[in-house]
Amino acid sequence: METFQLLLAKRLSDALANAGLAETGELTQATDPRFGDYQTNVALVLGKQRGENPPALAEKILSHLDVDDVCELPAVAGAGFINFTLRPDAIEKKTREVLRDNRLGVPETASSQRIVIDFGSPNVAKPMHVGHIRSTVLGDALARIAQFLGHEVIRDNHIGDWGTQFGMVIYGWKNLLDRQALQRNPLAEIVRIYKETNARAASDPEVREACRQELVKLQAGDKENIDIWNECVALSMQDFEHVYKLLGIHYDLQCGESFYHDRLPGVVDCLLKAGIAEISEGAVVVFFRDNPELADKPLIIRKRDGGFNYATTDIATVDYRVNELKADAVWYVVGAPQTLHFKQIFDVARREGYTADLRHIIFGSVLGEDRKLMKTRSGENVPLRELLEEACKRARKIVEEKNPNLSEEEKTDIAEKIGIGAVKYADLSQYRMTDYIFSWEKMLALHGNTAPYLQNAYVRIRSIFRKAGESWHRHPADEEIGWKPMPLCLAELPEIDLAKRLCQFAEFVPHALNGFRPNILTNYLFELANSFHAFYEACPVLKSEEPRRSSRLALCDLTAQVLQRGLGLLGIKVPEKM
Ligand code: ARG
Repeated sequence: METFQLLLAKRLSDALANAGLAETGELTQATDPRFGDYQTNVALVLGKQRGENPPALAEKILSHLDVDDVCELPAVAGAGFINFTLRPDAIEKKTREVLRDNRLGVPETASSQRIVIDFGSPNVAKPMHVGHIRSTVLGDALARIAQFLGHEVIRDNHIGDWGTQFGMVIYGWKNLLDRQALQRNPLAEIVRIYKETNARAASDPEVREACRQELVKLQAGDKENIDIWNECVALSMQDFEHVYKLLGIHYDLQCGESFYHDRLPGVVDCLLKAGIAEISEGAVVVFFRDNPELADKPLIIRKRDGGFNYATTDIATVDYRVNELKADAVWYVVGAPQTLHFKQIFDVARREGYTADLRHIIFGSVLGEDRKLMKTRSGENVPLRELLEEACKRARKIVEEKNPNLSEEEKTDIAEKIGIGAVKYADLSQYRMTDYIFSWEKMLALHGNTAPYLQNAYVRIRSIFRKAGESWHRHPADEEIGWKPMPLCLAELPEIDLAKRLCQFAEFVPHALNGFRPNILTNYLFELANSFHAFYEACPVLKSEEPRRSSRLALCDLTAQVLQRGLGLLGIKVPEKM
């Protein structure tokens, strides 16, 4: 199904071509509804290029523009903008098509790619903390959106399960472990022995050397150390899995760093042979002499002692993803502090001849109310698991207040949807590059740009249908059983406005993926819920006469479907009641 935006963009291109002016011009959604629904600044751009008067150019374009079937007469405004306002009958027609489409009007991409998304990727022997929310939730949402748009997505958890910290963990395990504590809270005990070893190593060179020896033994495949390592990884994974279950996150692959361990010597040899890496002071190093930005930032891929680095693993990871997984694109959803690392990795990949589209999708930090990195009172990272459990607990209070008569089971289920949804939404509704302040009050508020507000709009609609007591035909398959959609009759402004927004779902979903910006989708859903409330206030639904009643019910139903699908693309569930 073609969106209004695409249709108008095509018509604009035709007009530009017929006027002999250009091939295409950009057409966007209007930034201010007072100026209509879409706009183009092409006359301004061309005016500058050609040294001509933009309003005159705009008039010339208009004289070639044929959009009568969808728009009111377009108008030239200001310095030469052309504004488009959709006609109600065109909106009505499109809404009817959307109602019958089980993709809600969202077209699949014509250029489907196989995309590996590397997100979450926590380190073992440490609990997941609040800092992991962003990568995990953002990566999951991007995966869902990409998949819905027709891409083939491979979700990969690049777990940090191999590295120098294991020398200390193993030393601690052998010398400091409290088995009972391990049973009570495995991860806390592993963190304790790690920290204590770290502290001892800082002041005692003998401990330092002992840790190094443990690491060497592990890397050489020593049975005892491998067993300890395995146990630590398994215990950490249990903690991760618990968090993933709460968040509803699933991975197709969990190829952690250890997965690449055996490949590293080969990778280094290849880079040496290809002349991409060289030996420098006993280490193997990649220099970026042709890249001004990286010229003074060489990358060590094999240390003087023969050990490999985080970067070596990532080079091996690119090889694997491109050669074996056949990825067209790899998206790394990883915080901004690793910007330099990925620039180096991508430069190496380019020199190896890889053409896959490698992207580092960065994001800002989660801050506490004091605007500093969010920490517990004792200055520790906030464990993600506790944070999510707290979200559910707080949401439960809201449910108790709103709807005390629900069963215990229902309350638990709804509280989980609201609590987890609120945390995810608070994150996704921020522009990803900026830091944001984590605030329970704000994210759980029933009003404003929050998950509970949108969930509440959905619930409200569902209750209309419960009240109506009608089995509502919502699927195109209904036609097979002889059900014909009622002709919509949009008369009142709030109805037309709501219908128009519903048609635009198809425009916002791809838009959100283009800039890796789920906040474009959250903003859209928020506006949609606002339009719905305005409509619901102005236009009685169940009490109105036919055919208006059916028409309005259809709008309600479509709104619920778009809210559900839109939130679903963000990994957020909707309750039927709350
Ligand atoms: N484990 C890393 C960290 O916690 C993130 C890994 C990101 N992915 C990658 N391929 N390097 O910082």
